[in-house]
Amino acid sequence: MPQIPQTLHELSVGQLSARSGAAVSALHFYESKGLITSSRTSGNQRRYSRDALRRVAFVRAAQRVGIPLATIRDALAELPDERTPNREDWARLSEAWRKELDDRIGQLHRLRDHLTDCIGCGCLSLETCVLSNPDDISGERITGSRLMPERKPPTEDPA
Ligand code: FES
Repeated sequence: MPQIPQTLHELSVGQLSARSGAAVSALHFYESKGLITSSRTSGNQRRYSRDALRRVAFVRAAQRVGIPLATIRDALAELPDERTPNREDWARLSEAWRKELDDRIGQLHRLRDHLTDCIGCGCLSLETCVLSNPDDISGERITGSRLMPERKPPTEDPA
């Protein structure tokens, strides 16, 4: 991994890519999603502060465990003064994300356990197939599209 002199306070996108291991295109994508920011030189080239290294490491670690970018962005946005996440931030956020990961792992276990029922079937039934309609929580409560306003059952007319 290339070393960056401590005296260098701003990094080009190539330096940030080489040091962080993230592709240049990924860094541009992170920037477009508001996960990192850059300034521009007079020649319109991006320059990143050294803090961007830690932010990229944070984003990549969170992505590796399946945290959506929008969730990561929200977490970074909560940090005061757009500061770089530190060890305590990571501990706090990873604890909060643990429940979400546990839920997802549980869902994957259930899907795996039902996969053998689907092998060779191919029906993808919305009523019976867990692959087609996993964890149909709303199906127990209402029928039809979840996007439709929920209708209350008609009340009896007291008259
Ligand atoms: S494909 Fe038929 S039950 Fe899943």
